[in-house]
Amino acid sequence: KQDSDQLIIDAGQKQFGATTCSSCGMIYSADNPDDHFQHTQFHQRFLDSIKYVGWKKERVVDEFWDGKILLVLPDDPKYAVRKAEDVRRVADSELGFQQVTLSRPMQAKTYMFINTQRLVVGCLVAEPIRQAYRVLEQPAPNKDMTKDDFMERHRAWCCSTVPEPAVCGISRVWVFSQSRRQSIATRMLDTARRTFIYGSYLTKEEIAFSDPTPDGKLFATKYCNT
Ligand code: ACO
Ligand code: ZN
Repeated sequence: KQDSDQLIIDAGQKQFGATTCSSCGMIYSADNPDDHFQHTQFHQRFLDSIKYVGWKKERVVDEFWDGKILLVLPDDPKYAVRKAEDVRRVADSELGFQQVTLSRPMQAKTYMFINTQRLVVGCLVAEPIRQAYRVLEQPAPNKDMTKDDFMERHRAWCCSTVPEPAVCGISRVWVFSQSRRQSIATRMLDTARRTFIYGSYLTKEEIAFSDPTPDGKLFATKYCNT
């Protein structure tokens, strides 16, 4: 256990004197004692938030060789609801969301992917919605333009002004940085479609992503086309 924590701390990448921790995502200067201390604290809180100790009652909605997906509902025992909140907070801080409130907290379903090391490496929050605005296809970026990559990836999405019916809104989807590109988001979304409404398998048209980030848009585009 000590070893795996240590491994995660050492995995940062040096860049311009500042280090980005590859697990908690904090950018700090390792040479600065204050910064170093702040990071150690933040890092520990992050690890505590994603640690899963096991519950008396857990709602397993899917199982895989590399983990399982739990569903947490608003009326579940306090320890489960609190864990879902902690993980949501981790996701929100990475997404840059300021507040942790959900638009309809009593109807939100939180899916968590627990890996074999008992870490919550994925979180997806699904909420009932009635309509959504489709994100319109972007024109391919002009290769001749020497546009800053950041600007390119963060430009505003164009949304259709015509609302379309939808059933399930994905208000957040997050996967631990070191566990990405292992289909964890895909599997959480498949599970959400299957279990969001009892007895019905939602189509890809019936789900909508709220305010996708650049990563979220790449994922959503791939998911919805396959
Ligand atoms: N760049 C390019 N393609 C991507 C990316 C990416 N960063 N992420 C996913 N895809 C595409 C790929 O085609 C991928 O298939 P492949 O790996 O076989 O090529 C496919 O989507 C499926 O990806 P998954 O492995 O299922 O996705 P992952 O588990 O890595 O999670 C997620 C994707 C949730 C977007 C993750 O990158 C993440 O947590 N990012 C930071 C938080 C974030 O931006 N979340 C989305 C916010 S939007 C919202 O919450 C509504
Ligand atoms: Zn860290």
